[in-house]
Amino acid sequence: MLPTSFIDRDSTAPPRAEPGQQWWRTAIIYQTYPRSFADSGGDGIGDLPGITARLDHLVELGVDAVWLSPFYPSPQADAGYDVSDYRDVDPIFGSLDDADKLLAAARERGLRVIVDLVPNHTSSEHPWFKAALAAGPGSPERSRYIFRPEKPNNWQSTFGGPAWTQVPDGEWYLHLFDAGQPDLNWDHPEVRAEFRDILRFWLDRGVDGFRVDVAHGLIKQADLADWHYPVEPLTGPATESIRPPMWDQDAVHDVYRDWRRVLEEYPGERILVAEAWVAPSERLAAYVRPDEMHQAFNFEYLEAAWTAAAQHEVITRSLAANAAVGAPTTWVLSNHDVLRHASRLGLPIGSPRPRGIGADDPQPDPVLGLRRARAATLLMLALPGSAYLYQGEELGLPEHTTMPDEARQDPMFRRTQGEQKGRDGCRVPIPWEADAPGYGFGPSGATWLPQPPVFAALALDRQRGVQGSTYEMYRSALRLRAQHQLGAGTLTWADGLDGVLTFQNGSVFVLTNFADTPAALPPGARILISSEPLDSDGKVPTDVTVWAEV
Ligand code: GLC
Repeated sequence: MLPTSFIDRDSTAPPRAEPGQQWWRTAIIYQTYPRSFADSGGDGIGDLPGITARLDHLVELGVDAVWLSPFYPSPQADAGYDVSDYRDVDPIFGSLDDADKLLAAARERGLRVIVDLVPNHTSSEHPWFKAALAAGPGSPERSRYIFRPEKPNNWQSTFGGPAWTQVPDGEWYLHLFDAGQPDLNWDHPEVRAEFRDILRFWLDRGVDGFRVDVAHGLIKQADLADWHYPVEPLTGPATESIRPPMWDQDAVHDVYRDWRRVLEEYPGERILVAEAWVAPSERLAAYVRPDEMHQAFNFEYLEAAWTAAAQHEVITRSLAANAAVGAPTTWVLSNHDVLRHASRLGLPIGSPRPRGIGADDPQPDPVLGLRRARAATLLMLALPGSAYLYQGEELGLPEHTTMPDEARQDPMFRRTQGEQKGRDGCRVPIPWEADAPGYGFGPSGATWLPQPPVFAALALDRQRGVQGSTYEMYRSALRLRAQHQLGAGTLTWADGLDGVLTFQNGSVFVLTNFADTPAALPPGARILISSEPLDSDGKVPTDVTVWAEV
C-alpha cells in the first residue's frame, strides 16, 4: 500500500528538463477542461482558481505540463471554443489575475502550462464580427471573415447542418463549426497580425505554449469547391488525392512558420501543438517540420482498433513519419471531443467511432472497457515520445452514456436534432470525493452536467493509496517511465506470437496480450508493472500489458 500523502517532487522543484533539453520531446501533458476540473465558486462550473487549488494532484500524479482548454470570454456556444476576446478570462472562469496566479503556482511546482488558441474562427460576439455585420457587404470589416453574396458550395458544418448562414442583408458567412463560430479569412494581413499579437500577449504572461485548435482548417481551397458528402469532414482522407477543400491546404504551413518565429523570440522552450485531424501520418508530420510546430496530436493512434496488428501498424507508421522530420511522436487516447477510452474500448472491436452515446444506444461493456483502457494506457506510456492525458482518465472514468437529453449542451446535439449525442459524456465534472455533494467537484455540489452514479466508486479519494487502483497504476507508470527514460528511448519490436505485441524500449520489455489465450513472458523477466494481476503461473492474461526487465 502506498502512503496516501506521497508526492514525488517537493513544491519548489524546478522543471524536470533544464532549458535547452527540449522538455516537450518526452513530456506527459495533462489536459484540463476548465469547466469540469474543479469549481471554486459553487456555480457548478469549474474555474481557474479551482485548477490552481488542485495543482498538487497533478504533481502527485507525476505529469510535466498542463494544457488548459479555452477559458477566454465567450458566449459558450461551443463551450469556450467560440472566443469573443483572446486577451482576457471569462468571468465564469475567473479573471486575468487568476490566470497569472495559476501560471505562478504551476511554475512553483515545476509544471509547464499550455493554453488553447482558437485561430480558425472567432465567436459571432467578437468585436470584429459585430463590426462586419454592422458595416455591410463589401466593407473592409467583412473581409476579415468569409462572406459571399450567394451560398457558394455545399459544405456542411462539422457539428451538422449547413456551414453557411445568411445574415439579414442577404450575404452568407462560412462557419465550419457552429453558426456562433464564423471562420476567419486567413488571407487577410490583419488576421495574421492579430494572432501574432495574441501569441505575444500570452507568451509575455509566461505560458509555455499553445495547443492550436483546428490547425488544419485555417486556409480554404481558393475556389471553395463543393465536397462529396457523406464523408466525416473532420477526419482527413486516407490518400492525398482526395483532400477536402476545407482541410489541410498546403498554404496553412506558412502560418505556423510565422508563429514559430514569434515563439523563438522568447527565452525557454515554448511550443506549438497542432490539433489537426489529418491523415495519413506523413501529411500530419508536415505540421511538425523543424521550422513549424513542435508536436501534433496523433489521432490515428487514438482511433486505431484494439488489435495487435492495428496497434503495431499505427505505432510503426507514426514513429517513422515523425522521425523523418525530426519531431517527437505524440500519443493520446482521450480528450474532450471523443468517447473516453474506458468506454470506447468496451465497444465491439471495429465498431465506428460514435459521436456520443445515449441511453437508447448499444452500451459499452464497462468491465472490459476499463480492463482494456488500463492495458492501452500502459502500452502508450511505454512508447518513446510525448503523451497526452485527459483529466479523469487517471481515475478510469467512463463516458457518461446515459445522460438525459435535456442535460446535453454540445452544439452537435442541437445541430443534428439529437441524431448525434455529442461530446458532453466525456466532459462531466470530475469526482474528487466519493461522499461529498457533486463528488467534491465544488463547494455547492452543483455540476453543469450530471455525474453518473459510478463516479462515486471512482472518486480520487477512493483510489488514492489503494494498490491496484487505476490512479495508483498511472502514478507508478509515470514514475517508472521517468526512471527508465522511456520517453527518450527507442522502440525495437521483439518477436511475439500472433495477437501479442512485444517490444523493447531501453531496459524495459513491454508485452500487451490481445490474444484469447494467456501469453508467456521471457524466462527470468522481472515485472515492473502490469495493468492487471498475472495468472498464477506467471502468464499474461488477455487484454493486459506488462512492463518487465529481462
Ligand atoms: C476543436 C475542439 C473542439 C471544438 C472545435 C471547434 O476540434 O477540440 O472541442 O468544438 O475545435 O473549435
